[in-house]
Amino acid sequence: MMKGACVWSLVAVCVLCVCVAYKPVIIIHGLFDTSADFINLHRFINLSHPGTNVTVLDLFDRSASLQPLWKQVEGFTKAIYPIMQNSADGVHLICYSQGGLVCRGILSTLPEHNVHSFISLSSPQAGQYGDTDYLKYLFPQFVKSNLYHVCYTAVGQKISICNYWNDPHHRDMYINSSDYLALLNNERANPNSTAWKQNFLRIEKLVLIGGADDGVITPWQSSQFGFYDENETVVEMKNQKVFLMDFFGLKTLYARGDLVLCSMAGVAHVFWHSNETVYKTCIEKWLT
Ligand SMILES: *[C@@H]1O[C@H](CO)[C@@H](O)[C@H](O)[C@H]1NC(C)=O
Ligand SMILES: *[C@@H]1O[C@H](CO)[C@@H](O)[C@H](O)[C@H]1NC(C)=O
Ligand SMILES: *[C@@H]1O[C@H](CO)[C@@H](O)[C@H](O)[C@H]1NC(C)=O
Ligand SMILES: *[C@@H]1O[C@H](CO)[C@@H](O)[C@H](O)[C@H]1NC(C)=O
Ligand SMILES: *[C@@H]1O[C@H](CO)[C@@H](O)[C@H](O)[C@H]1NC(C)=O
Ligand SMILES: *[C@@H]1O[C@H](CO)[C@@H](O)[C@H](O)[C@H]1NC(C)=O
Repeated sequence: MMKGACVWSLVAVCVLCVCVAYKPVIIIHGLFDTSADFINLHRFINLSHPGTNVTVLDLFDRSASLQPLWKQVEGFTKAIYPIMQNSADGVHLICYSQGGLVCRGILSTLPEHNVHSFISLSSPQAGQYGDTDYLKYLFPQFVKSNLYHVCYTAVGQKISICNYWNDPHHRDMYINSSDYLALLNNERANPNSTAWKQNFLRIEKLVLIGGADDGVITPWQSSQFGFYDENETVVEMKNQKVFLMDFFGLKTLYARGDLVLCSMAGVAHVFWHSNETVYKTCIEKWLT
């Protein structure tokens, strides 16, 4: 009788273990923010998926997030790699704003990564072209229409936001000069692109979250790979060349059923990670 009870409690413990074995979650921040800004997101994950090992990475202080994105990729990769090695069942990655571009760099260049869900939280995945407070602060004497003079130079490319500045009126210059986004997108020929695509496609889900009231990501559809044409009319992802030509795997993910778009109105840029409705609707189910 005693023995039977023991066995059953053992079974119960095992069932419990299986239930709470959520994969570790790694969170990467964006421009001018730090790990402290993710306290709410951390709390939402704790509440919905107790026992999850959440790491909010914080390698850069607010101004260091202006460093070139390849440099950030290098730094964050060093921090992420040991976590992946400790996580035989894989990890999930949540990347906010500019951090979403850093994460694409990591996922493209790290051949052995084991990321299951890559959650891109209001990231300018197709680039940025808009006048924002960030821009005014960084380049007070420039506006969106003339920033290409700075960004599409060797000096400009040493500043993170120029790495994904995408001026629809100067596409040639963008393709020739962007040392980050144009390379990652395989818009400019790159000997590593086949390997990068294979690496990127190791993810099991790509979740693209964004919305019309964001106010910073411009156009907001860039968070879901839509972007301006030469007339500043937004062309959605599925009509973009990078998608149609499957330059880096987007169309493959879509064909596999592993590309998820989640759009939410009423969320300003700095609230994406603190909004419980966003978490419940767009994030929670991908963190198992
Ligand atoms: C989440 O849970 C961990 C472990 O129980 C705890 O150390 C941490 O303070 C919690 N964080 C938040 C933001 O709730
Ligand atoms: C959480 O993950 C970190 C990084 O892999 C590891 O150092 C730490 O021991 C883990 N914590 C728990 C409670 O498993
Ligand atoms: C881009 O590079 C190509 C090839 O090197 C060159 O022919 C073209 O003039 C360049 N365009 C611009 C706008 O710099
Ligand atoms: C291609 O990969 C190699 C080895 O990882 C690296 O040294 C080189 O800089 C990469 N090329 C580009 C264009 O990024
Ligand atoms: C942009 O507008 C011009 C003038 O109206 C038009 O000729 C051109 O076809 C448009 N370009 C695109 C990509 O729609
Ligand atoms: C949270 O998200 C909901 C749903 O999109 C939105 O209606 C609400 O305004 C948001 N709240 C904040 C504080 O951003």
